[in-house]
Amino acid sequence: MKICVLNGSPKGKYSVTLQTLLYLEKLYSAHTFEIIHIGQQIKNFEKNPKDIIEKIKNADMIIFSYPVYTFIAPSQLHRFIEIIKEEKVDLENKFVTQVTTSKHFYDMTAHKYVEDNCHDLKMKVVKGLSLDMEDLTTKEGQNSVVSFFEYLLNCYNNDLYEPNPLIEHHQVEYQGGILEEPVKSDKRVVIVADIKEDDTKLKLMIDDFIKGLPHQSKIINIHEFPFMGGCLGCFNCAGSGECVYKDHFDEFLRNEIQTNDAIVIAFTIKDHSMGSIFKMYDDRQFCNGHRTVTEGMPFAYIVNGDYEIEHNLKTIVEARAEVGHNFLAGVGYNKETIEQTIKKLDYAIENKYVQPRNFYGVGGMKIFRDLIWIMRGIMKADHVYYKKHGVYDFPQKQRMKMILMCLLGLMVRNPKIKKKMGNKFNEGMLAPYKKVLDNLEKEKRL
Ligand SMILES: Cc1cc2nc3c(=O)[nH]c(=O)nc-3n(C[C@H](O)[C@H](O)[C@H](O)COP(=O)(O)O)c2cc1C
Repeated sequence: MKICVLNGSPKGKYSVTLQTLLYLEKLYSAHTFEIIHIGQQIKNFEKNPKDIIEKIKNADMIIFSYPVYTFIAPSQLHRFIEIIKEEKVDLENKFVTQVTTSKHFYDMTAHKYVEDNCHDLKMKVVKGLSLDMEDLTTKEGQNSVVSFFEYLLNCYNNDLYEPNPLIEHHQVEYQGGILEEPVKSDKRVVIVADIKEDDTKLKLMIDDFIKGLPHQSKIINIHEFPFMGGCLGCFNCAGSGECVYKDHFDEFLRNEIQTNDAIVIAFTIKDHSMGSIFKMYDDRQFCNGHRTVTEGMPFAYIVNGDYEIEHNLKTIVEARAEVGHNFLAGVGYNKETIEQTIKKLDYAIENKYVQPRNFYGVGGMKIFRDLIWIMRGIMKADHVYYKKHGVYDFPQKQRMKMILMCLLGLMVRNPKIKKKMGNKFNEGMLAPYKKVLDNLEKEKRL
């Protein structure tokens, strides 16, 4: 079988993910592996896509090999997918799969993004492999790589693949016309947008949003920001927070965006995501490491496109807010949702409203907590922040609670004591809550 490996890591041959593909190449010599460093060479591919497209078309199987970057794939891979679609490359019925490495932080949304795009191209998608960065160095990890490849061969030989959900997109109309124009407070809202010259609909949605918003606002069009390139994954920023690029994005982010009272993100849906420019903006925020520097600040979105049916994008939007601990006031994609979003955002700004994190946030932060603890030697800026903000809430610190649970365990395992206890166990569990309720008597609200 002729396998074409599309290496989406900006690190090229230094990619950790690529090592898994090299492992398979050594092990399965009956198959040929052609490796193309699309992540590292995206600028060349933009200029001359023909040769690479030819190689892709000639392959029997395509394997996307890439690192998970900020909930999805590196911006360079987003750009690659954009070009493949712009060039209308015919990949119908070609087998495709993916291998990623990450810390499993939102690896599933990355996989779904690639799957959705391959389904758009009518390809035969085989469920990919999501590895932890270090898996290949363990016997267990190596076994899972081999079983994955055997599964892949079986799928190829027997024409087995994932069903195409055949998402039908609808043109969502927007006539505009927010009626109310309220008095503006002195609170400041920044609208970070990716607005292309001809994107009249998104412009209209943003104009209406600004009109209806009872606060000061400014638009930052990241389409015009002189990005020198996408995140390179070089980890230069890990210690100091400073990026290797000299385009001053880190200062711009800290001074122009993070200093406001709320952040609104505005984009047109592209290839089931926010498009490669916005992805570049997201990835480059790695200069903030894993620090939730906008914690508590309300977020909202203005989205041009059929947002209703983009389930993976919805997960990403919600999860980003949850991990960052930002109240997601809403996503405006038509007149009604824009008006609702304005009102909820206004409430959140005025009342500094934020909810406790849900599973997306709690789960995500536990992965970060453990990761930074292990990597604190290099991730200095994150470590200092996590210590200061009490992110290191390891359960083994709760000694008293553990001793109490052991005692309780002993008691409930003894039938005599258990019988005597009767309802005491439940009462004991509720004791701290009862105290809260009793104290409340003094402090009543209308
Ligand atoms: C900008 C950036 C964003 C990242 N985002 C994520 C993420 O969202 N989830 C995750 O689990 N790991 C994330 N990582 C970690 C990489 O996925 C991980 O280091 C990967 O193994 C690198 O693979 P590579 O060497 O092939 O590029 C991120 C790393 C960088 C540099």
